[in-house]
Amino acid sequence: MAQKPYVVDQMISAKAIAARIEELAREIETAFAGTDKLVVVGLLRGSFVFIADLVRELDLPVEVDFLETSSYGSGMESSREVRILKDIRGEVEGRDVLVVEDIVDTGHTLHHVLHLLQGRHPRRLETIALLDKPARREVDVKATWTGFEIPDEFVVGYGIDFAQRNRNLPHIGKVRFVDQAASA
Ligand code: IMP
Ligand code: MG
Repeated sequence: MAQKPYVVDQMISAKAIAARIEELAREIETAFAGTDKLVVVGLLRGSFVFIADLVRELDLPVEVDFLETSSYGSGMESSREVRILKDIRGEVEGRDVLVVEDIVDTGHTLHHVLHLLQGRHPRRLETIALLDKPARREVDVKATWTGFEIPDEFVVGYGIDFAQRNRNLPHIGKVRFVDQAASA
């Protein structure tokens, strides 16, 4: 099926994201001060840019791991049923763990992942989400740290995709469909 034409309107600049990550990193350093090692778990694929910038800002010993859950597929609606496509490689029992998510939307993904990891008995389990769409929540879950709360808009960029496109945009933008006849 052909993709309806759309444009991306900037919502959060690359500069604003970088400034916010600096603030969040200081809070995370304080919260995990004295840790022997922080296991930073990025949820693939949307968090790959965020986790790269975040860990380079963190002045803590870190281990980086990844977990992949089933995604939206090519659409805009959450599947709600979360499956683990790729588990982390390392052990988290007795460790300090920080889960890094791109967006908390309905909340199903984060809820599922936290339940899974909690069952492995980490010493401490916290979460950070770059974006939060509270208006869309279906499951009562909130990240420990949030970069930006945003309205109910479909966003792309900074690692986040629409049907696998726009992950490489340096900023966050919202998808706006355009009428082909009007824009021709
Ligand atoms: P949830 O399970 O509904 O909270 O969905 C979380 C996942 O859905 C995120 O990790 C994203 O991968 C994806 N998602 C949610 N909102 C958007 C969006 O606006 N653009 C692109 N992906 C999104
Ligand atoms: Mg995701």
